[in-house]
Amino acid sequence: MKKILFATSECVPFIKTGGLADVAGSLPKYFDKEKYDVRVILPYYQCIPARFRDQAQYVTNFYMNYMWQDRYVGLFKTEYDGITFYFIDNEWYFSGAKPYTDAYFDLEKFAFFSKAVLSALPVLDFRPDIIHCHDWQTGLIPVHLKDKFADNPFYRGIKSIMTIHNLKFQGVWSVEVIQHISELSDYYFTPDKLESYGNGNMLKGGIVYADKVTTVSNTYAQEIKTPFFGEGLDGLMRARSHDLWGIVNGIDYQEYDPSNDHFIAQNYDARTFRKEKVKNKTALQKELGLEVNPKKFMIGIVSRLTDQKGLDLIQCVMDQICSDDLQFVILGTGDEKYENMFRHYDWKYGDSVSANIYYSEAMSHKIYAACDAFLMPSLFEPCGLSQIISLRYGTVPIVRETGGLKDTVEPYNEYESTGTGFSFANYNAHEMLGSIMYAKNTYYNKKREWNKIIDRGMARDFSWVSSARKYEELYSVL
Ligand code: ADP
Ligand code: GLC
Repeated sequence: MKKILFATSECVPFIKTGGLADVAGSLPKYFDKEKYDVRVILPYYQCIPARFRDQAQYVTNFYMNYMWQDRYVGLFKTEYDGITFYFIDNEWYFSGAKPYTDAYFDLEKFAFFSKAVLSALPVLDFRPDIIHCHDWQTGLIPVHLKDKFADNPFYRGIKSIMTIHNLKFQGVWSVEVIQHISELSDYYFTPDKLESYGNGNMLKGGIVYADKVTTVSNTYAQEIKTPFFGEGLDGLMRARSHDLWGIVNGIDYQEYDPSNDHFIAQNYDARTFRKEKVKNKTALQKELGLEVNPKKFMIGIVSRLTDQKGLDLIQCVMDQICSDDLQFVILGTGDEKYENMFRHYDWKYGDSVSANIYYSEAMSHKIYAACDAFLMPSLFEPCGLSQIISLRYGTVPIVRETGGLKDTVEPYNEYESTGTGFSFANYNAHEMLGSIMYAKNTYYNKKREWNKIIDRGMARDFSWVSSARKYEELYSVL
């Protein structure tokens, strides 16, 4: 039995700000239980909903010396869907309304978390063979394993994997600050280790010191070896390319299942979508105050509203997108400029645009189920889950061909009757507009073809099954 510990800063169903939480919460369920004991550890944030905090069982506590002080580390544990989740408690670091707060404080918060995860293992009586780290928040774990904890026999032989969900976020500050919070010696702050362009870099530490590095799609694994996508670490990615695996994400097929989804007005599946799916559209039109018309082409967006997601392309041609024969539903939060942009167009195009600037699991499911098409014109996209969820809900993705979007959406070819969505190559607003118009035209004028695109999309398998096998293969070579 191989023992694996996922270390992560967010995880469904406890706490989520983006796709990382979906991955950390669902992937562990899909390993062969006879051969792999996969558990997850995350902070015990005060903003985790009370229903989960009430269920969690207090295990024990200890004091850990961190930055010259003995600091409290509480340990909680819960079983959910057959998986064991551990939580690290510390009120000073993990209170607050959101998991990520002030950028500077976050660095110390997750440096504390990373050290606490390792310190907690003997207390939890769980010695993983592999610690699987996710994103910059856990980047110090592979470093500590080879440094502070290396002399202790308990840790000897524990391997680590660093998975990059988004290379944009690296946990960077001055060398002095990163050195202070990581408690690492000068030795580590050279350009071949944690120093990067004169700064300290926590993710870089993870990438340098982990035994294997992965990212969440094949295309992104290639892209990050180039300067444009490499965010300053493309040289390192090339240097580690023999240990770099691209494994595409899946989604939780139980949670995202149009035939059994309690959030949506009408359940449907690959057989019944032609008749039933549209009832979700009219229900959403009513709920959001849009014109109720089952025939109208409806495009959806569910997204963090940041530059990554290609929203400036939309801004550029929004007036051309918005026409009498189209409805546009947006759900998201993020940069104020994009929140206000969508609010503005909601005001301008009353009953055909609906901007919902908040976070809601329920509303996201309603949008995936209701829309005809889903727009995701990302500037870069390590994997992207929303387009995969859309495929599962028979909602045709319109995407830019980058990262995981390229690997999961096959462009429609009307001559060969193949493809599951619409896509464009260049980061160009009019190319995107062209794809939207092409999709709209297919929807209105070639409905049978449109439905076949949906047939093909719904038949694709993006459950975790095949990707979990790849992670098992990775674990077996360590
Ligand atoms: P990223 O991780 O870059 O944000 P992904 O496509 O991988 O992008 O995952 C985003 C996840 O977050 C999806 O499950 C999506 O449905 C969800 N999501 C994003 N914004 C919202 C929102 N405002 N309300 C509910 N769910 C959201
Ligand atoms: C990141 C990426 C997204 C990916 C998710 C889960 O948030 O932006 O593309 O799907 O992580 O791996």
